[in-house]
Amino acid sequence: MKLALAADHGAFELKESIKKHLDEKGIEYHDFGCYSKESVDYPRYAYYAASAVAKGEYDFGVICCTTGLGVSMAANKVKGIRAAVCTNEMLAEVTRRHNNANVICMGQNVVTKELADKMVDIFISTEFEGGRHERRVNLLTDIENGVDLG
Ligand code: RB5
Repeated sequence: MKLALAADHGAFELKESIKKHLDEKGIEYHDFGCYSKESVDYPRYAYYAASAVAKGEYDFGVICCTTGLGVSMAANKVKGIRAAVCTNEMLAEVTRRHNNANVICMGQNVVTKELADKMVDIFISTEFEGGRHERRVNLLTDIENGVDLG
């Protein structure tokens, strides 16, 4: 299990806290930045981590900003990425089971550090259910590929 982490300045502290949690659990990760609270542009950092996940270099991405919204929009522009903003444990579980999400996005001003750790644990340990959800996820890929769903 190897994770791609990224955040903008608005979630620098949340990312550092998640790193501490992953260190304690012995889970491997790469930190794609940013590396301080200096103001940066969130699409760059979301792109760095999401494109590494899309290339298959990492199992999952954990990408944060102040709200979780901007980074999710950026990550979802990367082909092959299904990024979900999660604000509670149920969402972290269901987006894996139903959407086969490969990136979890969170907002530093939205979730506590403790909740973020729990959501990461749930997200990376929950399997995709497949079945009828596979058909739906395949439709997401069709949309990404410009297929006209009619
Ligand atoms: C940065 O100020 C803020 O816009 C960013 O962290 C994020 O919340 C955007 O969606």
